[in-house]
Amino acid sequence: MCGIVGYIGARPAVPILLEGLEKLEYRGYDSAGVAVCDGKELRVVKKEGKLTVLKEEMAGTDLPGTVGIGHTRWATHGRPSDINSHPHWDCRGRIAVVHNGIIENYLELKEELLAKGHKFASETDTEVIPHLIEEYYNGDIVEAVRQTVARLHGSYALVVLCEDEPDKLVAARKDSPLVVGLGEGEYFLASDIPAILGHTRRTYILEDGEMVVVNREGVLITDAAGNPVEREVFEVKWDAVAAEKGGYPHFMLKEIHEQPRALRDTLSGRLKEDGRVNLAELEPVADRLACLQRMYIVACGTAYHAGVVGKYVIEKMARLPVEVDIASEFRYRDPILGPEDLLVVISQSGETADTLAALREAKKRGATVVAVTNVVGSSVSREADAVLYTWAGPEIAVASTKAYTTQLLLMFLLALQLAEIRGRTTPECGEIVEAIHRLPAAVEAVLSREEEIKAVADDYCRSCASTFFIGRGLDYAVAMEGALKLKEISYIHAEAYAAGELKHGTLALIEEGVPVIALATQPDLFEKTLSNIKEVKARAARVLALAVEGNRDIEKEADRVFYLPALHPLVLPVVTVVPLQLLAYYAAVARGCDVDKPRNLAKSVTVE
Ligand code: M6R
Repeated sequence: MCGIVGYIGARPAVPILLEGLEKLEYRGYDSAGVAVCDGKELRVVKKEGKLTVLKEEMAGTDLPGTVGIGHTRWATHGRPSDINSHPHWDCRGRIAVVHNGIIENYLELKEELLAKGHKFASETDTEVIPHLIEEYYNGDIVEAVRQTVARLHGSYALVVLCEDEPDKLVAARKDSPLVVGLGEGEYFLASDIPAILGHTRRTYILEDGEMVVVNREGVLITDAAGNPVEREVFEVKWDAVAAEKGGYPHFMLKEIHEQPRALRDTLSGRLKEDGRVNLAELEPVADRLACLQRMYIVACGTAYHAGVVGKYVIEKMARLPVEVDIASEFRYRDPILGPEDLLVVISQSGETADTLAALREAKKRGATVVAVTNVVGSSVSREADAVLYTWAGPEIAVASTKAYTTQLLLMFLLALQLAEIRGRTTPECGEIVEAIHRLPAAVEAVLSREEEIKAVADDYCRSCASTFFIGRGLDYAVAMEGALKLKEISYIHAEAYAAGELKHGTLALIEEGVPVIALATQPDLFEKTLSNIKEVKARAARVLALAVEGNRDIEKEADRVFYLPALHPLVLPVVTVVPLQLLAYYAAVARGCDVDKPRNLAKSVTVE
C-alpha cells in the first residue's frame, strides 16, 4: 500500500510533491510527509492524518529546494502516527527514504543495525532502509542503495534522497509499482500515473528488480547488478482530466456515471459483425483453451464477486466446470492445479498482493494464467500468459464500480468465446450478444433515475444499523457486491444471503423495520424469490425489491420496487448492480461518510 512521489528539476519541489500525493491518496491516507533538499540541507515534514493535515502543517513554512520525495501512507507496520509516517531517515538525518511495500526481514535487519549502534525512531519496517543505506554509504549513494536492496526481502518501491548528493534521486522496485515521468529538464517518480499526468505523458514503467537514477540531465535505468537497461517510452493516452472528478462531488459518483462509456470501450472491437466474439488477446493461450477440463477464477473483494458471476455464466454457456476462489484462501489451500489447468485472475489494479501471489502459485505449478485487469503494465498483466483489459479508465474511488461492470462484461465475452471453442454455441448465444450490445444504454436508463435511488437511500439507510441483500443464482452473486458496497462506504452492516438459505438460521435476525434488498431479476427463480420475500415480510422487514420491468406481481409483496430494463437474464447483473452502487453512495452521503476514502481501506491492497 502507500503512494510515493519524487521530483527533480528547476521548479520548487514542494507544490509538485503535494499535488502528486493528492492524486495518490487513494493508495492510503493515514499520514503523509515530504523531504526536500535545497542543495545544502535536507528537511522533512510529516504528519499523521490525511494530506490536508500535512498541508496545514506546512502552510507558511518555507521549504526551499528543487528536489524532493513524498509519501502518503496506509499503515502496515506501526500504527498511524507522526513518527511512523514517511519519509524515514538515517541516524544523521542525511538520507531520507519513502517506501511502498513490506520489508519482511526487517526485524533481523533491525537487530543487526541496532547492534552496530543505529538509533531507530519508528515502529516501521521501512526505517531499516535508510539505516542500511547509511551503513553502506561511502560517498556513492547509488552503490549504497544497490547494496541495500540486495539485502531486502519482501516488496518495495522506494525513492532515496541524500543530502550529500542532492542532485539525484535513486529509486528501486520489487513487487510494488513505480513509474518515471519524463519532462523537459525535470523528472518525476510515482507509484501511479495520475500523480505525474499534470506534467508529462511520457513515462518509463520500471520492472521488478530494477533501479533508476534520476538527475536533471536524465534517467538511467539499471538491473540489480548495475547494467544499463533499455526501456521504451510509454506514452500515456488518457487525459489528466480523466483522473479528476470532472464536476462530480466524488470520484465514486463520477465512476458510476462513466459505466456506459467504460462498457462501450471494453466491448469495442471484441464482437465481430457476425456476432462472434473476438478475444484476440487469448491467442497465446489458444491451445490450452481448446482442451480445457476445468478452470479457476481467483480474485479479491469486488473482483471476486465478478468471478462468481463468471462461474455462473461460463458454466451455463460453455458447460465448463469453474471453481471460483478468494485469492487469500486459494494459495493456502494447496489447490489441485497443474499444467492442464487455466487460472483466470481478476484485479482492477493488477497489483493486489493476494491475487498476485495466487497467480505466481499457479504458474509455479505449471498452470496457464489469464489476467483480467484495468491497469496496463500492472504486475498481473506482466506476469500472466495472456491479458484481457477492462478499458474502464483510472478508477480512483476506493469502492470499485466501473471496474466491476467491465469485469462482468469480460466474463460474458469469455463465456461466449469458450462456448464457441467447445462447440457449445446455441441460438441463445446470439440473444446474449444482442443483449450485450444493449448494456450501455440499459445502464444509462438506470442512471437517469438516480433520484429514485437517492430517495430510497434516505428512507432506508440513513439511520439503519443492519441490512440484508437476498437473491438466488446470479442475483445472489450481485447481492454480495451490493452488500460489500454498502458496508465499505456507509459503514452499515450488510449481509448478502442466498434467499433460499435464509430459513436455515439468518431469518432469526429479521425483525420489524430491518431493510431487506431483494433481487428478483432472474425469471426462472422469480417465484422462489417471491416466496422468500414473503418470508421476510411476514417478520415485518421493509423490502426494497429489484425486478425486471413488467413484473408487477412483486408490488404485492415488496414495500418498494425498482424496475430494471428487460434484458437477457444472464447479462442483467451489469444493470442490477447499478442501483445498488447508487444506494450505497447516497447512503454514505446521507450519513456524512468520506465516500472516496472509507476508513481503514485503501484502493490498492499490496500487502497480504
Ligand atoms: O485491484 P483489485 O481488483 O485486485 O482489488 C480487489 C479488492 O481489493 C477490491 O475490489 C475491493 O474489494 C474494493 N474496495 C471493493 O469496492
